[in-house]
Amino acid sequence: MKIGRNDPCWCGSHKKYKNCHLAFDEKLKAYEEQGAIVPTHDIIRTPEQIEGIRKAGEINTKVLDKVEQYVKEGVTTEELDKIVHDYTLELGGIPACLGYCGYPKSVCTSINEVVCHGIPDPNRILKSGDIINIDCTTIYNGYYGDASRMYCIGDVDPKVRKLVEVTKECLELGLKEAKPYSFLGDIGYVINEHATKHGFTVVRDICGHGCGVDFHEEPYVSHIGNRGEDMLLVPGMTFTIEPMINMGVAEYYEDEEDGWTISTADGLPSAQWEYTILITETGAEILSR
Ligand code: MF3
Ligand code: CO
Ligand code: CO
Repeated sequence: MKIGRNDPCWCGSHKKYKNCHLAFDEKLKAYEEQGAIVPTHDIIRTPEQIEGIRKAGEINTKVLDKVEQYVKEGVTTEELDKIVHDYTLELGGIPACLGYCGYPKSVCTSINEVVCHGIPDPNRILKSGDIINIDCTTIYNGYYGDASRMYCIGDVDPKVRKLVEVTKECLELGLKEAKPYSFLGDIGYVINEHATKHGFTVVRDICGHGCGVDFHEEPYVSHIGNRGEDMLLVPGMTFTIEPMINMGVAEYYEDEEDGWTISTADGLPSAQWEYTILITETGAEILSR
């Protein structure tokens, strides 16, 4: 269906199309003709959706701030799960992980060689030398925010500490590339460059993702890429960047028994940090961290 110049714009601004996204659509058409993958309209959020996703992101950040206070030697990952669960509800949110495709807990707690999707466990007590990723997603008023952070417990091997730091730098470098009329491939490119420079490897096939209206949406965000390739970035896109960086080999396997836990093939440590971001007119805004 073709939209008329005087019809309301598809973006939800309530402005006439000719005064809103008409020039934008023509610009994207030109990119497409040059061979670029351009986002479809459903990937671009309405102002109302952005407001909702921003709020959900803020709540998610608050939950991470809360659980952070309990991440110490001696605590069990089950106790951390309960804090996430209860505080999310207290703030009026829903823990998005709980029951998602049958996932049994409210948060993912991934320790040492666990790459992601570690399941909280009453028998897993944090001990000195551990590194842990806490990955939390909140639904608030129907919208989603998703973020994760790393923690070093007690006395962590300097090389492992370095892995945690470099992974954070990978996320920040990726974030710098996140601006209108760059490409998803630019983000993956700088992440892979930085990780490789330090002798680490990037996990493939487990990706960042569109996030906000649903938990996991298009586009999928590879943490390895080539400049100028993959989807064009435009204002109004919301997605995560969440590099998983391994100290040894990039290969991983899934636990057959629990069906969730992803671990490195060589048993060496893995780190991950995640933000949900919004592409703005000038760059990117972090919606959850
Ligand atoms: N929060 C994870 C992500 O960043 C997804 C976890 S799904 C779960 O995409 F079911 F394992 F919780
Ligand atoms: Co996450
Ligand atoms: Co995510």
